[in-house]
Amino acid sequence: MKEQLEAIRKAALESIAATAEESELEALRVKYLGKKGELTAVLKQMGKLSPEERPVMGQMANDVRAALEQAMEARSAVLAEKAMEARLEAETLDVTIPGKKPALGHKHPMYTVLDEIKEIFINMGFEIMEGPEIEQEDYNFTKLNTPADHPAREWSDTFYLTEDSRVLLRTQTSPMQIRAMETCGVPIRMISPGRVYRKDEVDATHSPMFHQIEGLVVDKGVTMADLKGTLNAVIREIYGPDTVTRFRPHHFPFTEPSCEMDIQCHKCGGKGCPTCKGEGWIEVLGAGMVHPKVLRNCGVDPDVYSGFAFGFGLERLAMGQFKISDLRLIFENDQRFLEQF
Ligand code: PHE
Repeated sequence: MKEQLEAIRKAALESIAATAEESELEALRVKYLGKKGELTAVLKQMGKLSPEERPVMGQMANDVRAALEQAMEARSAVLAEKAMEARLEAETLDVTIPGKKPALGHKHPMYTVLDEIKEIFINMGFEIMEGPEIEQEDYNFTKLNTPADHPAREWSDTFYLTEDSRVLLRTQTSPMQIRAMETCGVPIRMISPGRVYRKDEVDATHSPMFHQIEGLVVDKGVTMADLKGTLNAVIREIYGPDTVTRFRPHHFPFTEPSCEMDIQCHKCGGKGCPTCKGEGWIEVLGAGMVHPKVLRNCGVDPDVYSGFAFGFGLERLAMGQFKISDLRLIFENDQRFLEQF
């Protein structure tokens, strides 16, 4: 039995020293120390020994077990260290390799202009409101004093979403005049930027989708002088303090009187050039005093309150500011174009 134990010790220690992986070590643990292992098998023969031999062999068997356990533990530590070294080797990071720069975008030029305009109005005490692009006929037309037979309601001009012409893509941001008064009441001072839709063919100056900024001021004693003063101040913030403006009579169903505001062409100083198409003036917005019927439609008494409203085209402003000649460039999102701003 003594020789058996010695043989096991020798063979086991050699095998342990030769292992290259934790799993091999585990297999040896089973092979020698497991329930059906070789050492266990030897111990099972103890019964056959004489009473004098038994404690001696018992002691020796324990020593072998302890020696194997210790050797396995030590080998396990060595293997773990080797595994760590191998991992560190495999995962080395070369910090001198240049990094990959993520391509960062930036604000679209039109939104740069919009943010500038918002800032101007916020400084004048205006609130900013946003409204739905899918709008009801009532808000887009009826409550804005635009009767059923008005040409603006033509199917050829308007994207209706239902057969009965009740729901449509808004053709203007003016329905926000109604929504603002209905939700906030008066007095009110707000602007509302957003997308509008018309059945226009795409060309250098037209798009079926474009952006407007609506404005509305209603209070006691608001006059046409307030309209002119406010819009002149805003336009001079945008185009510079020397900008010359003029107001021309116009017609909108929801304002009375109505006007359009032009700025004198900054390119030719009013003489006429390609930029202003020979006119000397460039139209920038539509405006007017809120029609008494519109006020009444929103539950506001026109004998107590009055107000003015206006609507800018945002693309046109951006095109003027950045000297962009073709509207399509604004929507195509060609990076070669956008990178310039
Ligand atoms: N909604 C008008 C348009 O789209 C512009 C406008 C707004 C005119 C407010 C007067 C008052 O042309």
